[in-house]
Amino acid sequence: MGTVEGLRVSVELSWAKLINKIGAISSIGLIVRQLAAMTITSNCTASVIKDAATSLIAGNLVAFPTETVYGLGADACNKDAVARIYEVKGRPTNHPLIVHISSINKLDKWAKYIPEYAVKLSRAFWPGPMTLILPRTDLAKDFITGGQNNFGIRVPAHTVALSLLNEFEAQGGIGVVAPSANRFGKVSPTCADDVKSELSDYLNSNDLILDGGPSSIGVESTIINCTDETPVILRPGAITATMINNLLGIRIQSIKKNNNDKIRTPGSLESHYSPIAKVYLTGTPEPGDGFIALRKYPTPAGAIRLISPISNEDYAKNIYRALRLADNLRLKKIFVVAPDGEDIAIAVRDRLHRSAKKRT
Ligand code: TXA
Ligand code: MG
Repeated sequence: MGTVEGLRVSVELSWAKLINKIGAISSIGLIVRQLAAMTITSNCTASVIKDAATSLIAGNLVAFPTETVYGLGADACNKDAVARIYEVKGRPTNHPLIVHISSINKLDKWAKYIPEYAVKLSRAFWPGPMTLILPRTDLAKDFITGGQNNFGIRVPAHTVALSLLNEFEAQGGIGVVAPSANRFGKVSPTCADDVKSELSDYLNSNDLILDGGPSSIGVESTIINCTDETPVILRPGAITATMINNLLGIRIQSIKKNNNDKIRTPGSLESHYSPIAKVYLTGTPEPGDGFIALRKYPTPAGAIRLISPISNEDYAKNIYRALRLADNLRLKKIFVVAPDGEDIAIAVRDRLHRSAKKRT
């Protein structure tokens, strides 16, 4: 395990060089684990990426890293492959998926109309942790939009994701749908091993997990509805309302609940992002309970400290890891001091509140 972690760090640091300059490597830290179910590889060389893209075109699933969380990818134009995503995730088929493309230049293939403010947003924040909801062209079929006339799209900011999308497009693909690579309602994965533990029972030997190291942001992209005159945040993320307001010179709204029939966002269900342990946002832990808070808060006597982030960004990056750790330690309760602030702390509080509303 220690070896895998060490190699992963070095692989993450040198992605760009490896893929852009060397093209193919065989002699440096190579880890390919052939599992009973599917392959997980941290050796994301040009040839591995090429094969992964070919596999997507053939209708298989490829889980890949993004800067937000890991996604479970399928060819957005392949109905059967997309059906498998829903099956593997256990997700209701009327919940829409996000299309991932390699660059803003591919946007008008998918979007029927792009408001001026959405053009500005995409220029400012792509590649990056932002999904735009736009009116669809005929390319975005009902089987990815859940029958809605609008759809979500983003350009991720991760070298492995972008390499995969570029190669997929070079081989004739047009877009890759990728929900977070977890079972429906569960915590999103922020590293390849999380994907493996969530989905290995459901993936098959033709499927692949690309290991690109831990996701740098750690919470899902900001979703912005761009189908009206002004943008509305549907899911908070690293691109905040303040950043959007500063860019566009307006005051945008953020909706709290999914109370609009036209827009269906499972991430806005009250109970989502749930670990097995029960999450408490108030109260004091007893000995043996989990505890999550910024480093400045001391650990209550006997509590099990899960993470000690030094900043709100660090909190976002590690929150899902902490919730998973609690489950691995078989803790029953996790007490959380949510972060304050109007930056990415908004997204962390949003996810924590949903985690705390446990399914019955
Ligand atoms: O950061 C992310 O966005 C990650 C990475 C992998 O890109 N993806 C992700 O996908 O979080 P998913 O499917 O787990 O969550 C996407 C959210 C869902 O809540 C979905 O309902 C919403 O986006 N969504 C997708 N299409 C939509 C649409 N047409 N209208 C409203 N919401 C939509
Ligand atoms: Mg998700």
